[in-house]
Amino acid sequence: MIRKVLIGLLGLVAVIQFVPYGSAENPPVAGEIPANAEVREVLRRACYDCHSNETVWPWYSHVAPAKWLVRYDVAEGRRHLNFSAWSEYPPRRQARKLEEIGEELAQGRMPPKLYTPLHPSSRLTEAEVALLRDWAAELASTIATEGAPADAAGPAAPAAPAGLTPVAGAAGGR
Ligand code: HEC
Repeated sequence: MIRKVLIGLLGLVAVIQFVPYGSAENPPVAGEIPANAEVREVLRRACYDCHSNETVWPWYSHVAPAKWLVRYDVAEGRRHLNFSAWSEYPPRRQARKLEEIGEELAQGRMPPKLYTPLHPSSRLTEAEVALLRDWAAELASTIATEGAPADAAGPAAPAAPAGLTPVAGAAGGR
């Protein structure tokens, strides 16, 4: 009985390898987020696997079912925040992302709890969390003072005509 179950499971694992799902690729780096060497090192260690185009793909990112989770995380992570595409973000989006980085770090939500046991080097000390938070706040204030292009790019979206609601996220999305 147990043997049949095991053989069945092995067969299942073999079969699911053929389920196509995402890809383990690193698109070219468009323009990285500004950071000094110290900050960059911490970001690379704790965030870049999911929030950059320089993901270090582990072996299990090629084996189902683990690969579904890894590839989903990277796709979602990049979609929300991609340090490799930073220069393509309009200043307003950059400012919002920096605020979110501060919040996620303050709440200890990043790097994700499921990730750190598999990547012990991604664990952040309190000092590193503080370093990243200070850096994010500083960069945000630089953008607020010097990054005026957000406003120079044009006034806020015109008021929608009566009866029409503006499309959520039309101003750059997430
Ligand atoms: C294992 C993958 C992974 C790692 C490593 C990781 N993140 Fe994330 N991160 C995600 C995913 C997936 C999301 C989107 C879903 C969510 O909010 O949980 C996300 C969301 C975020 C958001 C919210 C962005 C938004 O638009 O809402 C911020 C900010 C963030 N991460 C910052 C960081 C920082 C800073 C680090 C490093 C200290 C980090 N993350 C490490 C996977 C990761």
